[in-house]
Amino acid sequence: TQAHLTYNEQLELCAQGTKETSQVNGILLPKKLCDIWDEVWNFQAQPDDLLIASYPKAGTTWTQEIVDLIQSDGDVEKSKRAPIHLRQPFLEWTRMTITGITQAKTMPSPRILKTHLPVQLLPPSFWEKNCKIIYMARNAKDNMVSYYHFQRMHKDLPDPGSWDEYFKTFLEGKVFWGSWYDHVKDWWRKKDSHPILYLFYEERMQDPKSEIRKIMEFLGKNLKEEVVDQIAYNTSFEVMKKNPMTNFSNEARMNHGLSPFMRKGVVGDWKNQFTVAQNKQFNEDYEKNMADTSLSFCMEL
Ligand code: A3P
Repeated sequence: TQAHLTYNEQLELCAQGTKETSQVNGILLPKKLCDIWDEVWNFQAQPDDLLIASYPKAGTTWTQEIVDLIQSDGDVEKSKRAPIHLRQPFLEWTRMTITGITQAKTMPSPRILKTHLPVQLLPPSFWEKNCKIIYMARNAKDNMVSYYHFQRMHKDLPDPGSWDEYFKTFLEGKVFWGSWYDHVKDWWRKKDSHPILYLFYEERMQDPKSEIRKIMEFLGKNLKEEVVDQIAYNTSFEVMKKNPMTNFSNEARMNHGLSPFMRKGVVGDWKNQFTVAQNKQFNEDYEKNMADTSLSFCMEL
């Protein structure tokens, strides 16, 4: 079984073919995504599309639910019309036999779409049509821990092995959708030339309403204070964890018994996972990799 294979062997299995087919321009991506890569790359965005972009496990679903509620003027019942992945297609993903692209093509405008693609792999039409983009970022340590537990529970991703193995894998950037460093830095740079609202998980945890207002302003929405209160309440971790439309409880490809999708939802959980030596190694690596950017994260956790 897969448990006896090394991580690299599992990646090979996921690719189910030559190494090249599991990568696009050097970025490791699930094989089923590579199979439809031409379709993804040629996707035709529309000017009123809103894209929610992030590195996996940065708080994407949280952002998606906030955006959906803002667009429906805080109408909670409307947001319960379907699971989040059906309301807002995951552009490059295939679920059963339905691709995110097919889903998007059948949706009325204005569409809200989700992607984990790094900047250089985003279909060019998003830039050409000047679509608004919300980018969600999360500090690397918590992001890594969350990704580790997600890989343990998601049946379409390779088993991450032990924490110690995964720690190494993550620092080497050998995870799907590529290196965390490149992802957050490249999207940060891109916001200088494109309408991108760059948000941080830690800031939203600290002051959810102010972060919700930032999104409202970006979307040109002006909602009453009590509606903002309602949105903040309905997108709190506790409420989203109980909501079957946001907690992925009906997703057969996830083993929530191993680790729930709505896992902890806190800042600083890395302290329960990193050893002292790993933290030291991580901090050195981080300093090196972040030396060439003005982007900074709240790492004093
Ligand atoms: P943890 O694994 O640290 O708990 P994504 O949606 O990008 O896959 O990110 C999932 C991460 O965001 C998980 O982190 C999940 O618990 C957290 N999350 C989801 N909804 C949240 C919310 N409303 N408040 C805080 N964290 C949330």
